[in-house]
Amino acid sequence: MSVANTALFTRTHFPAFAPTDPAILDARIRQAYAERDNLHRLDRLLNGSVPGADAILMRTNDYLGLAAHPRIIGAEISALEEGGHGDSLSRIFAHRREDRHRAFERRLATLMKAEDAVLCMSGYCANVGLIQTIAQPDMPIYLDMLAHASLWEGVKSAGAVARPFRHNDPGHLERQIAAYGPGVIAIDALYSTSGHIAPLAAFCDVAERTGCVLVVDETHSFGAHGTDGAGLVEAAGLTGRVHFRTLGLSKAVASRGGAIVCSARNADFFRYESMPMIFSTSVLAHEVAGFEAALDVIRDEPWRRARLHANHARLRDGLDDLGYNVDISDSQIIALEAGTDDAIIAFRDAVEREGIFGSVFCAPATPRNRAILRFTVHCNLSDADIRGVLSALERVRDEVDVAAWGSTRRRRGRNGRSVMAA
Ligand SMILES: Cc1ncc(COP(=O)(O)O)c(C=O)c1O
Repeated sequence: MSVANTALFTRTHFPAFAPTDPAILDARIRQAYAERDNLHRLDRLLNGSVPGADAILMRTNDYLGLAAHPRIIGAEISALEEGGHGDSLSRIFAHRREDRHRAFERRLATLMKAEDAVLCMSGYCANVGLIQTIAQPDMPIYLDMLAHASLWEGVKSAGAVARPFRHNDPGHLERQIAAYGPGVIAIDALYSTSGHIAPLAAFCDVAERTGCVLVVDETHSFGAHGTDGAGLVEAAGLTGRVHFRTLGLSKAVASRGGAIVCSARNADFFRYESMPMIFSTSVLAHEVAGFEAALDVIRDEPWRRARLHANHARLRDGLDDLGYNVDISDSQIIALEAGTDDAIIAFRDAVEREGIFGSVFCAPATPRNRAILRFTVHCNLSDADIRGVLSALERVRDEVDVAAWGSTRRRRGRNGRSVMAA
């Protein structure tokens, strides 16, 4: 353990206010830090330099550039001025009210071509609460290996059994179901660490053939894909074949909050069974006003989605021409896999010196030694920005030895496909 790490175990700041940790808590914290082998290394991995004023930022998931949109901010301010924070309480006391929350749920359901929707505090709460609600103890839950952490957490919460299957591989899923029996299948529509889109129709076929429940997380696709941003299930015409869609409103909606979308019967079941719905306070009225305004903007300003997808295509094709492996980036997220921790730090630092900022993801968010620098493309990138990114990535290519990366060796050329998690 480094000297710096030792400091994490020695509380010296306010001893008068801090009781001594009992041995069981002390042991738990020490063990956690020991397992993470070097906290400071992790910090170094995840936090690079501070961007300057003219930096090109591709870090947040504000795909449509809505974080400061005047219509959205104005709607939130008006709602605050009218009613303050309103009732800050659990929705368990308010499900039968025809209020702003309920109106938004109805609107979301109509947009996503479903019978009903339930607003949640976040995408994380939607996923944990949903799996906890629909799974029985010991039931198999079939998770894509790259499915979001909150879906895995829901499995633990339900006391169910996680049965992972290979990323985007319906055939492997079906073999797992043949071995362990029907259960819940949980996938993301668009994967947050790769930009890979799930073969949704094939997963619907497997769910129907095997009698499984299908849950699709649309957190990254909602707002960016489908009619007026209704998501990839809607875009593929599969709304009648997916039992539950979940979403976080923290990406294209650039806020915080979440929802599940499903049949009216299942929505009601979720409302009264899901622990986060019962024991945690709902989103506030002015936040809902912001969601409403965001849906208006997404509908009224389709250029944002068009520009997002055009920017993605230009950046992806340009990086492909430069020899970077972007084969799995189907949409808006581009993950450049340098591999080891040292390689990703060198790459991230080189790119940041050029004034370009993405986010590093490493194990356990990626497989070990498959660390990535993730660029989240957005509609506010100008043509000059894209040209700037491509020139910078051309300049650093040899310095960081892209040719030697494992991902480069797996690259199959412009028309080929490679599967990151296989
Ligand atoms: C695929 C996916 N699902 C769910 C979530 C959680 O969403 P939220 O941030 O709204 O809790 C995230 C967030 O990163 C995500 O990427």
